[in-house]
Amino acid sequence: MNYKQAEQVQIGVVYYPEQWDRSMWEDDIRRMSETGVKVVRMAEFAWSRMEPTPGVYEWAWLDEAVELCGRYGLQVVLCTPTATPPRWLTEQHPDILPIRPDGSTYHAGVRGHRCYSSASIRSHGQRITEALARRYAGHPAVIGWQTDNEFGMNDCHCDACSEAFRQWTRANYGSLEAVNREWGTVVWSGEYNEWEQIAAPYGGSRFQNPSYLLDFARFQWDSIVVFQREQVEILRRECPDHFITHNFHTYPQRMDQYRVAEDLDLASFDYYPNTAPDKQSTGPYSGALSLDLTRGIKRRNFWIMEQLSGPPGAWFATWRAPYPGFIRAFVWQAIAKGADTVVHFRWRSAAIGAEQFWHGLIDPSNVPGRRFAEFERLCAEVNRLSDHLQGTEPKHEVALLFSHEQLEALRIQHQAEGMSYYENIKDYHRALTKLGIGCDVIEWTQPLDGYRVVIAPGFFLMNEQVAATLERFAAGGGTVLVTMRAGVKEMNNQHVQMLLPGRLAELTGIRVEEYDAIGHDAHTIRDAEGRSYSCLQWCDILRLEGAEAIACYEGDFYDGTPAVTVNAYGEGRAYYVATHPDEAYLRDLLLRVAGEQEVRVYPDLPEGVQLAERTGDNGTYLFVMNLCREPREVHLNGAYASVLDGEPHEAVVPLEPYGVEILKHASDEAGSAVAQ
Ligand code: GAL
Ligand code: ZN
Repeated sequence: MNYKQAEQVQIGVVYYPEQWDRSMWEDDIRRMSETGVKVVRMAEFAWSRMEPTPGVYEWAWLDEAVELCGRYGLQVVLCTPTATPPRWLTEQHPDILPIRPDGSTYHAGVRGHRCYSSASIRSHGQRITEALARRYAGHPAVIGWQTDNEFGMNDCHCDACSEAFRQWTRANYGSLEAVNREWGTVVWSGEYNEWEQIAAPYGGSRFQNPSYLLDFARFQWDSIVVFQREQVEILRRECPDHFITHNFHTYPQRMDQYRVAEDLDLASFDYYPNTAPDKQSTGPYSGALSLDLTRGIKRRNFWIMEQLSGPPGAWFATWRAPYPGFIRAFVWQAIAKGADTVVHFRWRSAAIGAEQFWHGLIDPSNVPGRRFAEFERLCAEVNRLSDHLQGTEPKHEVALLFSHEQLEALRIQHQAEGMSYYENIKDYHRALTKLGIGCDVIEWTQPLDGYRVVIAPGFFLMNEQVAATLERFAAGGGTVLVTMRAGVKEMNNQHVQMLLPGRLAELTGIRVEEYDAIGHDAHTIRDAEGRSYSCLQWCDILRLEGAEAIACYEGDFYDGTPAVTVNAYGEGRAYYVATHPDEAYLRDLLLRVAGEQEVRVYPDLPEGVQLAERTGDNGTYLFVMNLCREPREVHLNGAYASVLDGEPHEAVVPLEPYGVEILKHASDEAGSAVAQ
């Protein structure tokens, strides 16, 4: 595959030639080129124009659009159009349409109206993919492919899904006896005597058997993988020189993005940071997590396939206008965190169809305004820095472990008011980001070599391998941090029959004797220095079995018992956080952990400012990003030069609202960037 092209640090746009008069195309594409755009993504929803009637392909329009891009020096990413099967196809094959859990049909007219198990969409999807791939395999402007658009679990309950689930279950368990045992179907007389009785969870109740529900979700995730793989195989065969990616949608998604991406060269993300002023204290941090999570999917740099270009709307009331500098700043944030190409959604706001008012770079008037002027400046900057940044990537000593299986298991069995697997991860990640601690967000089963600290919130499900990996990591000198509700479940979503935290008991040196699901009733914890903090959601009541308490509960019947513990384990240690503490506590705890492991921190980073680094043969680039509406000043240790304007910076970097600086240490040594 064409890694070289995929690794360019550059700007792209999403363009829908099929939605605009042909007379506009050349002017649009020329203007893109003059602005410094390098990539155009096209055709992800254009099946009805590629194949207006069954078997009749119309390529002239797309040929012309691709040709024009080539003529003006733009590279093209094409897409398989399977998210929008045309009306004639769903009419011919109604089995394509997904059936919702309540039994109603998800009709044509919107998009995403395709069941991944439908034999019809699979075969017609392969057919259109093959036709498209053959048509453009040799076109010099085309560099890569996006599969479908924003896969998500469509939670289809059609007959084909039931049948496929039956086969999946059979393949996984072999016998009904095993199914009955692994799902614990004896409860409520749910035992199966015939394979035919196994079906989708009609009605969609989350009070059905949790082992069965988790497996049904796993089956649905697998069906996305299979659906995509059939297209990927065709693209690989027909277009061996092109890269293949998929644009993942806002997290958390109920899907296995890791298995989906195994078949891809790189992951992409659609990034729409919130423009609301009252979200500026959380939005940019949640965005930082999305970017880290995307980089973690393949543990390498990624693309943004859709980047905010104007106020979103259409699906909800229109968002606030992006403040001056906002569009540019969030592109730099994405690049800082490992995005190479950033593709803007969209060149021009729609004048027709459902997505009017989801604003692009230019409004339907086609008169470029303030947003476009900012975009022009951005393109010029990115193009100027592209060679410097090419081949650089973020490198971190801290890993935060993420799991779509934990997410689903905790969704199926909600543990406490206000407890959310993903929101809790956000809290830990935000605390890290505010301390300037960069981290990799990786799948929970990944190897942990090279890290010093591993943070594992919400490890509800547990297996021997992950427990052993964590133990090995700590034994070898690393610090592991696990939280309440760890080790509660077997992978089949049955409760472990041991004292919690089950398989993590040795590592953590504690036993959970009882717990109190406090939900929204705030409790208090106090640390050894006598400082008090609040906590929510849950309180495990612990017995120490080798660990030491570093904070205890105040009040209630477990007054004075341990709330946060640390256990020496081999050369390293394991922390157990038995509740969900407030941000102030997480900060102090992470400062302690980072200090012990000599992980660099920036404790005086002003509110709203984020730091990130990309390192490569050219050295280390430090991105200092003010992602808020107020000016900020960042104090650095050492001498830096701005690679944006060449200005030297000693000690203080002033940042206007949404201001960004990209710095290189004056001595130019990789990894020597130090700010305090
Ligand atoms: C994305 C999607 C795009 C467009 C955009 C704005 O999620 O991939 O096709 O719909 O949102 O709504
Ligand atoms: Zn289905």
